[in-house]
Parts: sequence; structure tokens; C-alpha cells
Amino acid sequence: MPKRYTITAALPYTNGPIHIGHLAGVYVPADIYSRYLRLTGNDVAFICGSDEHGVPITIKAKKEGVTPQDIVDKYHAIIKQSFEDFGISFDNYSRTSAKIHHETASEFFKTLYDKNEFVEEVSEQLYDEEANQFLADRFVIGTCPKCGYEEAYGDQCENCGTSHNATDLINPKSAITGNTPTLKETKHWFLPLNKHEEFLREWILKGHKKDWKPNVYGQVKSWIDDGLRPRAVTRDLDWGIPVPVEGGEGKVLYVWFDAPIGYISATKEWAERVGKNWEDYWKNEDTKLVHFIGKDNIVFHCIIFPSMLKAEGSYILPDNVPANEFLNLEGNKLSTSKNWAVWLPEYLEDFPNQQDILRYALTANAPETKDNDFTWKDFQARNNNELVAIFGNFINRVAVLTNKYYNGEIPQPAEFKAIDEETLAAVKAYPAVIASSIERYRFREGSQELMNLARLGNKYLADEEPWKTIKTDEERTKTVMFVALQIASALAVLSEPFLPFTSNKLKSILNHAELDSELIWEDISTKDVLLPAGHSIQSGKPELLFSKIEDETIQKQLDKLEASKKANEAANKKVEPQKDEITFDDFTKLDLRVGTILEAEKMPKTKKLLVLKVDTGIDTRTIVSGIAESFSPEEVIGKRVTVLVNLAPRKLRGVESQGMILMTEDESGNLVFVNPNIEGVANGLKIS
Ligand code: MF3
Ligand code: ZN
Repeated sequence: MPKRYTITAALPYTNGPIHIGHLAGVYVPADIYSRYLRLTGNDVAFICGSDEHGVPITIKAKKEGVTPQDIVDKYHAIIKQSFEDFGISFDNYSRTSAKIHHETASEFFKTLYDKNEFVEEVSEQLYDEEANQFLADRFVIGTCPKCGYEEAYGDQCENCGTSHNATDLINPKSAITGNTPTLKETKHWFLPLNKHEEFLREWILKGHKKDWKPNVYGQVKSWIDDGLRPRAVTRDLDWGIPVPVEGGEGKVLYVWFDAPIGYISATKEWAERVGKNWEDYWKNEDTKLVHFIGKDNIVFHCIIFPSMLKAEGSYILPDNVPANEFLNLEGNKLSTSKNWAVWLPEYLEDFPNQQDILRYALTANAPETKDNDFTWKDFQARNNNELVAIFGNFINRVAVLTNKYYNGEIPQPAEFKAIDEETLAAVKAYPAVIASSIERYRFREGSQELMNLARLGNKYLADEEPWKTIKTDEERTKTVMFVALQIASALAVLSEPFLPFTSNKLKSILNHAELDSELIWEDISTKDVLLPAGHSIQSGKPELLFSKIEDETIQKQLDKLEASKKANEAANKKVEPQKDEITFDDFTKLDLRVGTILEAEKMPKTKKLLVLKVDTGIDTRTIVSGIAESFSPEEVIGKRVTVLVNLAPRKLRGVESQGMILMTEDESGNLVFVNPNIEGVANGLKIS
């Protein structure tokens, strides 16, 4: 029975582009689910938008010396484009700075206010005297009261996922000045989660939510069991939606109060545009509401937002919240600030028109039940061994042979053998198998089932060998090709949720548009013939669906990551504290001279040492220097250097070193010479 669905994907913070972690955790699974539901005839509103309020945006704007509006305008455009580029088929991608959202969120707040659903309270909140501002959310960092993580934010600990009040932090520090905050009185409105505890318990724990993913259910249960407390839903900040009630001047709604309401405003905006009634999607019990999110958003979508919806009274509650775990990258946590990520705009520059490879690699290895690691090697293997060798290879053979043997026209099959019947029957089973995976939010499993269908096709061709039978048995060849073409056609339809670009290409290779009616999901299991004899596929050499990725290409990506790691390490290098004081006499004991390296060779059997001959102006002497990992001998010959000449000689590997060359490090952590860098300075000149 077709149903109505409201499917939401977490609104991304608009302070940077989107990376593979976002795609794998939220947007690709949500898109697979939505596309599948549309293909199976359901009424779907797939909703998202930019989360444009909140402290991270203010912080970024401050850092760059621009306004928060500049930041969100820039990244809203970039993010929206990435979603389009990757085929994320939102029905609406809105933004929380939109007028309709400000209105909707204000109204929602006012309704709860009028219903006395808030507790209004003057309390002491963290305050930064130097910055002259209250410290909420990401403006304050401290130790998580629950798990002890030392970099928890004022509203949430990203380590254990719990949400708390800023005053709960142990040892809080201002993220603006580093100061220890003081306390200052201010009035706020609190959502008394404790009041909703019973409802949440009934709804989630005793209700039918046992079919929620264990990671989601488990977290929610433990929070409820720990007891819930009132949470402030307003802030003393100037970037956000103004608090629309008396006494709210100069205050804004907490970003996690306004953002989820963004799902509602984006639905309204869409409904107005396409002439639908938005309330059907939010207030009708027949509608199934599903939130796709990452695990750090669980508390907001399973406890706070449902409490808000319940308190408002006229909304439906989520049917499921299939949160994913985190994706790591080459063994390390993805990080925007450390630039440890694969950014979507950059991916597309390096792999133009290859969105489906990334979609597939991320789905096949999705962090559904535990954190998972994205590696470029796995990406290459998924492409080369699965998309190219199985899926692409099968389609290419079918299209090439059909053109070669039959001028592109589907042949009339002769009698079916058992293997043909079995194969066609097996194909018919796939829609249900893949559907079951998708409906249970097991997208990795679904993607593997899809690949199994391509495997089935590949194996069928390999076993029946039409390229051999064409010489001996034309009728048999026609049957085999007919069957293979049916499999290809099934792949074109069933791949759509996972590989939308490939599905489109394949449909044009097979000329699906010329069929009497468009093939839909269930046709694959109900129709005996998908591509009838006499139907023509595209003539000429078929476009290759996938091509091999070479080691070199992968190495480039690994090098890029390595470079960003180095740059980051250098940027974060702590300046060492100053050493103990020395006297002027101590200093004058050092005899530093300008010199030139005349000769250099590697110290045999060592990795690090170069044996140098250095003109110090006083003499030419031997200095052994530990720089061989950064410089080749050829590179250093002729370099002007600073030499400490009166250092007591010492033997290194049997060679006496008579001094020391001063070195430092550049921003990427590479050694560089402390170079006098003055034209015309003679060797031997004293540095003082
Ligand atoms: N911006 C949040 C994040 O990136 C997600 C907001 S989801 C919504 O973690 F429900 F608030 F919309
Ligand atoms: Zn914690």
C-alpha cells in the first residue's frame, strides 16, 4: 500500500563545505530511501536545508572578519550545489534564514509559551568579562560531566553525545578569550524535559521503537534512565531568531530549538510551491516521519524535538530515526578544522562525473552499526573489482554483443532452458530482496544485493558463452542475449536509488524511454518481459559506465591527505616555552659564524647523517649533520649557513664533527637552514 512519507536529512551547519562523512552518514542513505520510496509509488517529501544559526557560524565569521550572513550565503550556495551534483534528490533544500522559517519557528515558540510549556527562570549563566558576553554552546569548552571528555561544548559533548547545560561543564573556559568564565544572572526559557519523561518512556521504551537501531535505542534509553532536566531553549546571542515574547529582547532561540523546526518550514515552502498541503506531511497520522541523522544528533531528534512536537500538540512524531555512526578517513577522525576530509567540491574536481563511485563506496562501507573507515584503497577496489569488473563489464558485453549480432535489436528468444528460467526467476526475486534491505535501513546490504544481481548476469553470460554459441547455434544465442538484456534492464531500474547517474546512463543505453510505459520497481518482479523482442537499444559503441582507477590516481589523493596532515601539525605546533635565563657573558661564549657548505656526502650505513665540508672563514672543517632525511648531498652544496664553530668536537660514527650548523623548521615541518641570506657577506663573519 503506497504511503505518505516525510523524510528529513539533518540540516548541515553552514560554516564549511560538505565532506564524505556527511554524505555517508546522512545524505546518501536518506537519498536511497527516498528514491526507493518514490519508485515504489509512495508520496514522498524529502526535506533538508541549511542550518544557518548557531555559534560555529558566528565564530567563523569573526575569524574571517566578515558577517555571519556572508558566511551562510557563501556556504549555503556551495552546499546546495554539492547536493545537486551528487544527485541528492531533495524535494526542497531550504535555509533557516528564510522568512518562512523565522515565522514558523517564532510561531512554534509562541505556541509553547502560550500553552505554558516553558519554565521561565532567571539563573546564573557563564559570562566572559573580557569579551563582554554570555558563553553558551560552542563559546565555552570544558570537561564533560558525564564522560570526562575535556573538550565538551556548552550544550553537548561530542564524545558521548549527551546534551547538558553549560553550567554543568567542569572547569569551563571561554572559547573566545580562554578565560575562566564568571557567573552572571540572566533570564531564559527552559523546556522542562523532566515533564516529558513519562511520555518519552512510553513512546520510545514501551512503544514499538524496539525496531529502532540498537545504537539509537540504547543511547536514548540510557539518557532517559539517567533522568532528564529542563533545558534552556533561548540564548543571549545576537545571531539567530529573536525570542518573540516579552522580555526576549536581545535574546535568540537556541539553534537546536529552531533548526529542527526547519524541517517543517522547508516542507511548507515546498508545499506552497507545488500546490500541496504541508499539514498532510506533519499532522496526519498516516504519514510516516523519518529523520536521517548522524549519531551526534540523536539526543536532539529522539528526545528534545519529539518533546517540542508533543508539547505543541498537533504534530506527528518520528516513526524512526536511523542514525548512523561516524565515518573515519584513513584511520583518523574526520575533521573540518584539521582539514582531514575529502570535500565534495574537491572530489568532483579530481573525479569529474564520477559521483556514483563515491556513492557506492560510501554505501558499501557505510557506518551503519559501528564507526567505519573510508580508505582510498577500498574506494579503488570497490570501483575496479565491483563497478568495473562486475556491473560495468556485464552491461558492456550485453550492449556490444546486441549491437554486433543484432544491430541493436532485442532478438526473439527460442526455447528457454532450465538455466534461463531459473535466471529469470532469480531476477524477479531481487526487487523484494533489495526492498527489504532498504526498508530496514540496511543500505550496505542493499547495495551488495544489487551487485549480486549484476554478478548473476555476469555469471550467466560466462556460463552460456554467447560469443561461442554464435558460431554454432544462432537460436540459442538469441535466447541467451534476450535473457541477458532482461537482466540489464532490471539493473537499470533497481540501481536507481544507489547509482542514479549510472541508472540514467543505462536506461539510455537500453533506450528505456522508447518503451510503451516507464518501467517501475515492481515491474521487475511482475513482468515476464522487460525489454521486448524488436525493441532497439542505442546503436554504436556503448558508453562505458565505469572505468578503472589506477594506483597513481589513488596515490595523489593519499599525498594530498599527507600534505594536509603536515600543514596541520605545523600550524598546531606549540611554541616551546623560553629556556632559563643566561648572562651576556654566557652568550658571548658562543662563536657563531657565516659559512658555506663546500662538499657533502652521506655517512655510510646511516639514514640521518651527512658529512659536510664547511668553509667557516677560519678554516675548512668537517661537520656531521643530522639532516640527510631532509636534504640530498647535492642539494646542500653551496648553501650559506650559520655555524657554531667553538663547540667541542665529538666523534659520530668515527668521524670527528667540528661544529654545528643551525637549523629550524618551516611551516610544514621540513628542516631549513638558518641562512644569513645576505648577499656579499663573507664567510667567517661573526654573528652577534
Ligand atoms: N546542523 C546540525 C549538525 O550539523 C544538524 C541540525 S539537524 C536539525 O549537526 F534537526 F536541527 F535540523
Ligand atoms: Zn561526554
